[in-house]
Amino acid sequence: MKELMVENKSSIHWFTEARFGMFIHWGLYAAIGKGEWVMYGQKIPVKEYEAITETFNPNLFNAKEWVSLAKRAGMKYIVITAKHHDGFAMFHSKADKFNIVDSTPFGRDPLKELAEECALQGMKLCFYYSHVIDWHHPHSIHDSANNTWDYHLEEKAFYHYWNRLVKPQVTELLTQYGPIGLVWFDTSGGLSKKDSEEMVQLVKSLQPDCLVNSRVSHWPNFGDFQSKGDNEIPMSGEDTKPWETPMTLNKSWGYSAGDDHYKSTDSVIRKMVNIASKGGNLLLNVGPDERGEIPELSVEKLKEIGDWMAKNGESIYGTKASPFPYEFDWGAVTVKENKVFLHIHNQKWSSGSLRINGFKTKVHQAYILSNPQQKISFMQENRENEGLYRLQLELPEEPPCELSSVIVLELAEELKIDPAFIEQSGVIKLDFGHAKIVREQQQNA
Ligand code: GLC
Repeated sequence: MKELMVENKSSIHWFTEARFGMFIHWGLYAAIGKGEWVMYGQKIPVKEYEAITETFNPNLFNAKEWVSLAKRAGMKYIVITAKHHDGFAMFHSKADKFNIVDSTPFGRDPLKELAEECALQGMKLCFYYSHVIDWHHPHSIHDSANNTWDYHLEEKAFYHYWNRLVKPQVTELLTQYGPIGLVWFDTSGGLSKKDSEEMVQLVKSLQPDCLVNSRVSHWPNFGDFQSKGDNEIPMSGEDTKPWETPMTLNKSWGYSAGDDHYKSTDSVIRKMVNIASKGGNLLLNVGPDERGEIPELSVEKLKEIGDWMAKNGESIYGTKASPFPYEFDWGAVTVKENKVFLHIHNQKWSSGSLRINGFKTKVHQAYILSNPQQKISFMQENRENEGLYRLQLELPEEPPCELSSVIVLELAEELKIDPAFIEQSGVIKLDFGHAKIVREQQQNA
């Protein structure tokens, strides 16, 4: 796979090293408990929606607990919704009273508290900001999802919204909360190239090292990295720029009472490994409730993921994508310096030998990452004139680590593989983007 083309190497470095972050969708909508699109879905009038602020009092919010949980899970950055599509600012904004400090009995600024706690615990803080959709504001214009029950499109003056709310709020976020890792813009349908460029310039003028995601719009002209579609994992070899998959733990972003359709911990780890093996980051979401608590089931999952990361994190953080241009049936590959990590999902574990074809590099030693004392015996057969390069590992009977076991191959020389599509463990697995359907020649023609 091609090396990632990284434009601004120094400021993007932390991001590509991090590999795993926490997404937090938290807003006034948590009080309704039906996700962050509820205002739009139920066409709730602005006045009625504003009334929720009178009783919104998430006094169980505890920045220390949230940041500690992210750390415990092995996450390296937090992206929190500063303002979502409902237009409610979860910070003290002078640009608009419709914010958590000025219009709720809670009266605290959770982003300030998070910023302080992140600085203490060495966690990167980042802000999500809905720059185009805003159902509360009379002048926001999106190409499809507008508040049409309170406002008339033909009466809208977009630049009232853009110049008097969006730019001032983005400025507040980048001047009052210390260094911000990135601004995560979203759903930019209809934004002009000029406005999108201006937004990027505004961010960079206030904090030159702050990254901007592709959803600022007009990617790849603007944006430092690509936000994939929600829950989307791309094909291997598809990307040449840094990227990230935003992913839900259950089926919702914002708090949704009763949504206990959680992904299993095992499946989240498999997805994270798969993403890392393609050179991307996983941004995994939690949706705290109206009291300011992260749902118990989410906490449990994150701790389980953290247990796995504590033992196997070296195979994720700061790694590069697999050099193989296809996926393996048994798991995935990541690379760091002179180490190749083979992630074997326990469900696919079979005692006996694991054969990898096309592995040209001499291996110095192989061992289990979660228990380096446990060595793995291996054999290498290289027949250059036949183009045969085979590495055969003898696996222990039982998988040595819970959920997914990682074997480290310490290399004796620079990593080289045969990039051709060769058969691996009896199968050739191609992403469909690499496959070509060729009509079989008519036999009797
Ligand atoms: C979508 C949704 C939004 C959510 C986001 C997360 O764009 O509009 O509600 O915040 O995806 O990636």
